[in-house]
Amino acid sequence: MTGNEGQKGVFNVIKDHQPRWALIAGCLLFFVAFQSGMIQADPSTGSKKAPSASSGQASFELTLPLGLEKDSLVIPKDNPLTKERVELGKLLFFDKRLSANETIACASCHMPSLAFTDGQPVSAGIHGQKGGRSAPTAINRVFSSAQFWDGRAATLEEQSVGPFANPIEHGFKDHDELVAKVKSIAGYGPLFEWAFGSPAITTDLIGKAIASFQRTLLSGNSAYDRFTMGNEEQALSANAQNGLRVFVGKGQCLRCHFGFNFSDEQYHNLGAGWDQESKSFADVGRQAVTNKPEDTGAFKTPTLREIANTAPYMHDGSLATLREVVDFYDQGGIPNPRLDPVIKPLKLTEQEKQDLVEFMESLNGEGWTVTPPTQFPR
Ligand code: HEC
Ligand code: HEC
Repeated sequence: MTGNEGQKGVFNVIKDHQPRWALIAGCLLFFVAFQSGMIQADPSTGSKKAPSASSGQASFELTLPLGLEKDSLVIPKDNPLTKERVELGKLLFFDKRLSANETIACASCHMPSLAFTDGQPVSAGIHGQKGGRSAPTAINRVFSSAQFWDGRAATLEEQSVGPFANPIEHGFKDHDELVAKVKSIAGYGPLFEWAFGSPAITTDLIGKAIASFQRTLLSGNSAYDRFTMGNEEQALSANAQNGLRVFVGKGQCLRCHFGFNFSDEQYHNLGAGWDQESKSFADVGRQAVTNKPEDTGAFKTPTLREIANTAPYMHDGSLATLREVVDFYDQGGIPNPRLDPVIKPLKLTEQEKQDLVEFMESLNGEGWTVTPPTQFPR
């Protein structure tokens, strides 16, 4: 089956007044067709079951909101989710003292009020220094192995300590400096013992704790989920339903944003960041990780859940609104020698564009409300 046949099928059935089942079938078809090669189960366990907690610790029951799939959870066997690890990870995520000048926490750029983004085109870290990339949401990371726009972190554990030694994020010289800082706060020792059974503090354990906390940040039970899975006919407006048809059909969006988390977990070149004058990319993206010329300018397909809360858009924050994103796709991205062949001018009508935006707005859900800690270890 090719992607196109699947989509036409879905599109026709939608017209036959069975929208919800058609959409579920459509998503499933795509999911099954691509899953084997594209969405990986945790490689270290080979299993998709959430590993159970080690002795003496309370396992953390991840309650998945409607629409999210248990079988796709990526929780490594050597870091089972426990209540203790999640709690410790939360403190570390919000603790500004864990930066070279005690001003920056993970939460400075992944703010709970903005669906764990920062609302900026590109993030500003320590001393206000700016990087070249936009902060993606930290939501639904439990469904992915590779992290970052270019997928350079193979696990969420690895991702969770990267920013500390980034000179323009938390600004520590290296991870030893991070560990020394955490150790200098006496109150953390007992918490590491509580979470890991030993008071030792290492980079590895800091990563495990923060990854555990991040795995609890979910988004599901959106209007879209209630419409497709919850039998709530009224959950999506007629316009949003039409937007969903465009998303699946004419817009070809489902080619990359598929499955329940709206991502194929693959890397594509849409042309964002291409400079026509110098004929080069400001950011080579995935190519820096793989060294393959064909990956130049390719970035990871992001989830679209909570998308209305995470402007501006794209890896470089170059598009301010969802409408600008739709116009970007409608014009066929930004032509460049390595543009993904799926990206072509769409010739959407004004109504289709508006409906597509309304559909994306229906992907705001729940499962990520977190009350930041008010007290930190001393
Ligand atoms: C100065 C702002 C800043 C700080 C501080 C920061 N981040 Fe990020 N975060 C970013 C940016 C920008 C990216 C995208 C970088 C990239 O892809 O290369 C990112 C990417 C991520 C991702 C990847 C999401 C995905 O879809 O792949 C996660 C998860 C994340 N950060 C969590 C954290 C954690 C945990 C911390 C604290 C240890 C942290 N961030 C600190 C700005 C920041
Ligand atoms: C060929 C694969 C592909 C197709 C088709 C595709 N996308 Fe994307 N989408 C991506 C990738 C990759 C990115 C990130 C690109 C970047 O940052 O340079 C992205 C980014 C986005 C973003 C911004 C996300 C964020 O967090 O900043 C939105 C919104 C979006 N796409 C919606 C759509 C819609 C709507 C369609 C259909 C009209 C569509 N996409 C079609 C791969 C695709």
